[in-house]
Amino acid sequence: MFPLLVLCGALLGAYLLLCLTVLRLPRCKSPVKLHGKTVVITGANTGIGKSTAMDLAKRGARVILACRDQQRAEAAVSDIKKESGNNEVLYMHLDLANLQSVRSFAENFLKAESRLDILINNAGLVMRGKTKDGFGMIFGVNHLGHFLLTVLLLERLKACSPSRVVTVSSGAHRVGKIDFDCINTHKDLGVGDSAVALFKLYSNSKLCNVLFTHELARRLENTNVTCYSLHPGAIKTEIGRHSNLWWKMALLPITTLFFLDVESGAQTTLHCALQEGIEHLSGRYFSKCAVEEASTKARDDATAKKLWEVSERLCGLA
Ligand SMILES: NC(=O)c1ccc[n+]([C@@H]2O[C@H](COP(=O)([O-])OP(=O)(O)OC[C@H]3O[C@@H](n4cnc5c(N)ncnc54)[C@H](OP(=O)(O)O)[C@@H]3O)[C@@H](O)[C@H]2O)c1
Ligand SMILES: *[C@@H]1O[C@H](CO)[C@@H](O)[C@H](O)[C@H]1NC(C)=O
Repeated sequence: MFPLLVLCGALLGAYLLLCLTVLRLPRCKSPVKLHGKTVVITGANTGIGKSTAMDLAKRGARVILACRDQQRAEAAVSDIKKESGNNEVLYMHLDLANLQSVRSFAENFLKAESRLDILINNAGLVMRGKTKDGFGMIFGVNHLGHFLLTVLLLERLKACSPSRVVTVSSGAHRVGKIDFDCINTHKDLGVGDSAVALFKLYSNSKLCNVLFTHELARRLENTNVTCYSLHPGAIKTEIGRHSNLWWKMALLPITTLFFLDVESGAQTTLHCALQEGIEHLSGRYFSKCAVEEASTKARDDATAKKLWEVSERLCGLA
């Protein structure tokens, strides 16, 4: 009995220590207010995106939730309005799994709104299947849809500079690979739909996010539009919603013990969107509200350039 108690105590102590050190995420320290500024954030009806939108609304921004599901988005808009006291929070329809929808969003937005100060590419998923245009769902939503969205909004961002593009990637980019053959000939559909195969496709798409930001910064040199990619931390959200029950049950104890709340998960996005004095770090990757070295593959100029050109072609831009 006694050794068991000691063991439990030691485990609890170790866990608490872990929570106070390794697992802790710093807060965004910027006191910046955003009155008169407009922010677009994708996938803002739940998870990290909703928490980010809430913070931006509290700072006085006009916040546009670019989401695919009207009901879920409008529920989030009303929550955010209520809690922030800011009435300039609105939903505009955007389905990143449909390039025509991305084009319509950009058209509607550019017509209806006069400013764009911060674009946050936050939406993301892990899910089998294809997009409307026949791309692998994960590649199509996490990378390609955001690529087209950003390109279509770039002139407005330039006109409103200093402005920023923040893309939520993941630490999983470190195990990602870019297979141009697969992207070109099979639209990155991937093979198999086991959880492992899907995780690989997810990591690849998150590597695309970092490479996209790397190349975007190069193209935006001397414009006062800066861009950043980031890892939000391991956060309790709905991202695992499409996995099967067995995976959900297997992961539950891990997420319960070691994953943090969405408010913590929004901090590095907020840092990249708001912190003054990081402009010289445009194109870099952030974690825990600080710049961090992305993987070697994610910093390769030639791959980044090629991915940009391939993406342009896949979106019908080139
Ligand atoms: N949670 C983590 O531990 C973690 C770790 C590393 C990186 N990330 C990244 O953080 C970002 C936010 O994820 P989360 O964890 O907050 O997940 P989440 O709770 O599942 O939220 C994802 C959001 O993306 C939206 N979305 C999905 N497909 C879309 C589409 N086709 N068009 C428009 N919006 C779409 C979802 O809308 P619906 O509600 O309509 O589906 C939802 O609003 C993602 O980029 C993810 O890769 C998360
Ligand atoms: C960028 O900002 C600096 C400092 O405010 C300004 O002097 C410069 O003209 C701006 N450049 C462009 C291209 O807007």
